[in-house]
Amino acid sequence: MTLPIKDTQVPGWIIGSIILVNMFLLIPPVLVAKARYSTSRTPRIHVFLDMDQQQKFKTQSANSFYRDNRAMRLPVPGTVARGELNADKHYNWGTNGDDWATTFPSQVKVNADLLARGEERFGIYCTPCHGISGHGDGLVPRRTAVSDYGAWLVTDLSSEKGLAHPIGELFNIIGYGINTMPGYRSQIPVEDRWAIVAYVKALQFSQSVDVAEIPAEEKQRLESMEKPSSSEDGSTATPEEGR
Ligand code: HEC
Repeated sequence: MTLPIKDTQVPGWIIGSIILVNMFLLIPPVLVAKARYSTSRTPRIHVFLDMDQQQKFKTQSANSFYRDNRAMRLPVPGTVARGELNADKHYNWGTNGDDWATTFPSQVKVNADLLARGEERFGIYCTPCHGISGHGDGLVPRRTAVSDYGAWLVTDLSSEKGLAHPIGELFNIIGYGINTMPGYRSQIPVEDRWAIVAYVKALQFSQSVDVAEIPAEEKQRLESMEKPSSSEDGSTATPEEGR
């Protein structure tokens, strides 16, 4: 028995669906190719997260697990980070019992190296306000004096007020500030704060020395030095400049 020719042909709907399926199969490679060669603001679909994206709470985000809804938690009271016990009160706080220390701690060797370091650090951190000689005439108060913000009085370190602080308190002021002066503990490490204290002490001393106490050859050297060619008030630039 021979089947009629018509019945041996593949039905049209099958051919149609094969073409259709093949057309749809082209879509994924096209999408992949697009994803590889284009940029997007949304993150790509990540099938395996590996460790690229972790489940975590970001800084300042909310977390309803805690009653106060904050994801960021404070350390348990009394927690001390490794290496930050700072048990040596004299060295780390400048205190001696209930009083300010009046001497340098034993770890700090006051020598020319320390003073040089202190001078350098003083130049970086203190001169903007206190000025190079510590008289409270740095660029910041000079600027505030001519601005609309009102004058900002920076203490002359060699004034009675400036001289009144014991060594330990000077150390503490550098780290924690005083009245309108901010603290610099996050910028200046403890050993550098001591170096600055030593330099401030030397600066104060140098400004109260009796001329008779200066050694002869040092006096000669000072006298032979050229006087700075500046205006009467000691500033080389006119305040109008760079306002
Ligand atoms: C941003 C400006 C600024 C900087 C920088 C600054 N100070 Fe001060 N400092 C002040 C002001 C303002 C005062 C006066 C505070 C007040 O009102 O008593 C002051 C006061 C002081 C005093 C206390 C004198 C007093 O008034 O009894 C000492 C000591 C001192 N500064 C040392 C330093 C040292 C050392 C540095 C560098 C590490 C430094 N300061 C950096 C602004 C500054």
